[in-house]
Amino acid sequence: MGEVKVMKSLKNIYQKYLGVGFFLGFFLVLLTYFTLSEQFAIRAPNAVSESLPNAVLEASPVNPVAKQEEKSPPKLEDKRKTKDTTEKVDPVKEESTPSTNQEQVKANERPPVSDSTPSTIKEEDFKAFETLNPVHEAKEICDTQSPNSDTCDIYGDVRTHGVSSSILLVPQNPMRNPEPHEWKIRPYSRKYMEGIKKVNIKQLGSPEQASPCTIKNNMPALVFALGGITGNYWHDHTDILVPLYLASRKFDGEVQFLVTNIQGWYIGKYNKVFQKLSRYDIIDFDKDDQVRCYPHVRVGIKMHKEFSIIPSLSPEGYSMVNFTKFMRSINGLPRDAPISLRDNPGARPRLMIISRRHPRKIVNLQDVIQLGERLGFEVVIGDPPFNVNVGEFAKEVNTADVLMGVHGAGLTNCIYLPTNAVFIQIVPYGNIEEMCKIDFGDPAEDMKLKYIEYRITVEESTLLEMLGKDHPVIKDPASIHGWEKVAEYYLGKQDVRIDVNRFAPVLSKAMEYLRE
Ligand SMILES: *[C@@H]1O[C@H](CO)[C@@H](O)[C@H](O)[C@H]1NC(C)=O
Repeated sequence: MGEVKVMKSLKNIYQKYLGVGFFLGFFLVLLTYFTLSEQFAIRAPNAVSESLPNAVLEASPVNPVAKQEEKSPPKLEDKRKTKDTTEKVDPVKEESTPSTNQEQVKANERPPVSDSTPSTIKEEDFKAFETLNPVHEAKEICDTQSPNSDTCDIYGDVRTHGVSSSILLVPQNPMRNPEPHEWKIRPYSRKYMEGIKKVNIKQLGSPEQASPCTIKNNMPALVFALGGITGNYWHDHTDILVPLYLASRKFDGEVQFLVTNIQGWYIGKYNKVFQKLSRYDIIDFDKDDQVRCYPHVRVGIKMHKEFSIIPSLSPEGYSMVNFTKFMRSINGLPRDAPISLRDNPGARPRLMIISRRHPRKIVNLQDVIQLGERLGFEVVIGDPPFNVNVGEFAKEVNTADVLMGVHGAGLTNCIYLPTNAVFIQIVPYGNIEEMCKIDFGDPAEDMKLKYIEYRITVEESTLLEMLGKDHPVIKDPASIHGWEKVAEYYLGKQDVRIDVNRFAPVLSKAMEYLRE
């Protein structure tokens, strides 16, 4: 009955593997049928004329895959005799034609159910999984070329074993993988970060090598590391929260986090973010001796650039505006836009000054407050100590229309500002404009904040009185090289005395933005 279809489907699916040898082998099989089946003899000419010319044109050297396929039909027969539970699992079943060979071909494409592990996956689960991941043949997509982060996406029958830092891809039964590959990925967003253990991703040579699943899952998993240089509020976001959002938001909670180098304080501090990104238990991967099976495991989280997102690198098109909106929404922050002075001409917009203690303190804070009030702002001081509840401080920031502060991690709170609010970074003296722009200026623009930079002159810096005008740190900042020196002097010893006459136009500009 279905001979023509058989030829077609084989042609379509194995076109690139069709070799001369395969063709000859197949022809032998045809001949056998020819002599055995009269019915077939009537239809055979159609089949041959339809498929042979293409097959010959696209013939490539004989390869093992084609040979294997040649031999597989008998296996299929065996399998079908014993196959009753697996049939339920087959997502292709519904739309499949009655052709046995076609079914067999497609059966090889579906996520395999290993012989050693009786399937508990129900058809509905597969459908749910398919909608999440249309690609479910066994494969890895690894990116080790990006400048910041290494990542691998592994699809198929993927098994994790935390204590051995292993992610194993099981070949689809009965396939063999004669040259299994292996990758080692440091699942932190900065791939050169020391002290972060690498995860081994391995293809297995054959299904028999796989340990049986102790836990079967239908959702994907994401493996990533905490620690690194987190603990600094800006790095908490740059190194983890933004990359984690990029990697997991698309799953809408249907993803399990396998965390290596787990840090309880971090998960506690950002528990709202974790709860929103994943509905499942967070697994302490270093201590996990379960064999967890997933249809898809992502290893590593990607940093596009410092404290920001490059939408063209995000398959979902996420931007920093999406991220800040997400962060506001999980903290229940109501304001998505600053006050409009056009609609509320008499209103006093709120200016929040993030205040630091030494270093990088504004020593004449009172002058700046007075200036702000004179120019028509309601001025509030934000002073977030390390252990402040993130949500509480976020609420205060969200009430501001203008946020200002000297370069430092506290400015990371700009993510809680309404989109289009004004953000003023005070850049300390010392040839560090570029760094300040990368850390906050560019990200602020990506968040669609109105960004203004105010550069501290040597006269406004307390380093002048501390070191004298002839010190190289004062006279020639360009000669001060290396992060350590920069950190020691310009970030570590400097306070600022803002020249209010020079600063007034900056606040006026902020007011102007709110009038737009
Ligand atoms: C991201 O933001 C853009 C515009 O702000 C919006 O159109 C888009 O739907 C957002 N994407 C997601 C996934 O939220």
